[in-house]
Amino acid sequence: MRSKIYYFSGTGNSLAVSRKLAESLTAKGSVVSMVQYENYETIDVDTEVLGFVFPVYFMTIPAVVVSFIEKLNFIKDPYIFAVATCNGTPGHCLFTLSKCLQKKGKTLSLGVALDMPGNAIVTPPEMEAARLNKSEQIVAEIARQINAQHRNYFDGSDGWSSHLQSLLFSQLGKNILFRKKSFAATHECVGCGICKRVCPVNNIAINDGRPVWQDHCVRCLACFHWCPVKAVSVGKVFSQRHQYHHPEISVGDMDRG
Ligand SMILES: Cc1cc2nc3c(=O)[nH]c(=O)nc-3n(C[C@H](O)[C@H](O)[C@H](O)COP(=O)(O)O)c2cc1C
Repeated sequence: MRSKIYYFSGTGNSLAVSRKLAESLTAKGSVVSMVQYENYETIDVDTEVLGFVFPVYFMTIPAVVVSFIEKLNFIKDPYIFAVATCNGTPGHCLFTLSKCLQKKGKTLSLGVALDMPGNAIVTPPEMEAARLNKSEQIVAEIARQINAQHRNYFDGSDGWSSHLQSLLFSQLGKNILFRKKSFAATHECVGCGICKRVCPVNNIAINDGRPVWQDHCVRCLACFHWCPVKAVSVGKVFSQRHQYHHPEISVGDMDRG
């Protein structure tokens, strides 16, 4: 049996979890970034075990993940699992993923929400450390469940209140907190271009040595968190936010060239 884990990640939590899971799966295989496939029309699924690991955004799944799944062409009928890394509020994201897969005639068997340090709302440092410590053990347990091909388990809730909150938060995020105008380089910017390189959707151009944000931001906040001189600002509300990335993930891991 072979496996493939597709991940999407802004600050490394989902990549680190994908790598740890892959080490513990009996079905060996690879860990692959979803954004590598942005220009593909179809993506063949030819493994017996298929996984998706991604962050929760506004209590649902990132649009990048939805469009990735729409492109899948199933050659095999794999056992499918998902891990949604989050900051305590997974909402209905795993149910939404399940519905996306149902449209392709496939079933999400296992959907787990895993609390990790947050990269938007501030998580207290002691909580960040505790979650990171605990995550190894939880990932080992998730791997055990995947190896045993557990079925019919989803974290979160698909209730109307989750959908309503998600709608409100995503509108607030897209139109106020994280709109195009919120992103700027401060005078500390050294023009290194790392923000451009870590942007998973190529939304940053460098003009005259300065980053310029374009129109297709997915709000992963990689540009803010990976800037080596803390020169990316994201509006006033975000001014107190500290930088975060998963300690086992380096800027090189996130570099899409
Ligand atoms: C724009 C945005 C919205 C988020 N919304 C939620 C949310 O609704 N619920 C939650 O628990 N975490 C939320 N988070 C936190 C991330 O899901 C969490 O930190 C995740 O582990 C980050 O994964 P990554 O490091 O792979 O990018 C949000 C993060 C961002 C950037």
